[in-house]
Amino acid sequence: MEIKSSEFVISNTDVQKCPEGNLPEFAFIGRSNVGKSSLINMLTNHKGLAMTSSMPGKTLLINHFLINKEWYMVDLPGYGYAQRGKKQRDQLRRLIESYILKRVQLYNLFLLIDSRHAPQQIDMDFMRFLGENEIPFSIVFTKTDKLSNRQLTDNIRAYKEALLEEWEELPPVFLTSSEKKRGREELLVYIDEIIHCS
Ligand code: GTP
Ligand code: MG
Repeated sequence: MEIKSSEFVISNTDVQKCPEGNLPEFAFIGRSNVGKSSLINMLTNHKGLAMTSSMPGKTLLINHFLINKEWYMVDLPGYGYAQRGKKQRDQLRRLIESYILKRVQLYNLFLLIDSRHAPQQIDMDFMRFLGENEIPFSIVFTKTDKLSNRQLTDNIRAYKEALLEEWEELPPVFLTSSEKKRGREELLVYIDEIIHCS
């Protein structure tokens, strides 16, 4: 899929105020600082479209970006940022969960995982929540440029093995680097197929 246009539409803290209509949505979720906003900028080839930061906790709202005037990419706040305090963490959690559970336009959720790390409980718990609520999701490993090919292969294999202890089947898995633009074509083809085949 070619990205011909990408524009910011609205940020908000209320699912009810998300854009009306029934355009398909693809949302990006994962731990704070995993690279959600950077991935959106990489996919759209639009530097600065989504705000990024080296400090965790940058995105705190639900952000809608209209792509090709045909569908939305949705940048969500990260989960699990310890320094934020329990109250705000719980608030963000509720916001994320209400978006995921209530937004009928959500075609697919991309769950981002830092390719450098071993499986973390918080991500496993989040996947269980998605499974229990029958939310379609795919896994996107980020920051692959920070590892050697060997380390990356070993980490991904270990991650898949850990997933298979809990899941019968693996969801679609993508390897990406926003820095090197890795995985861009694969993700855009995947999104295109979902939009046009459903
Ligand atoms: P929150 O909004 O805080 O939840 O974070 P986020 O998941 O949106 O992460 P963001 O895109 O802001 O990126 C966090 C940091 O990781 C930034 O310093 C990015 O430059 C860096 N980063 C993101 N993706 C990559 C990548 O593929 N490679 C490298 N080397 N750095 C990356
Ligand atoms: Mg962000």
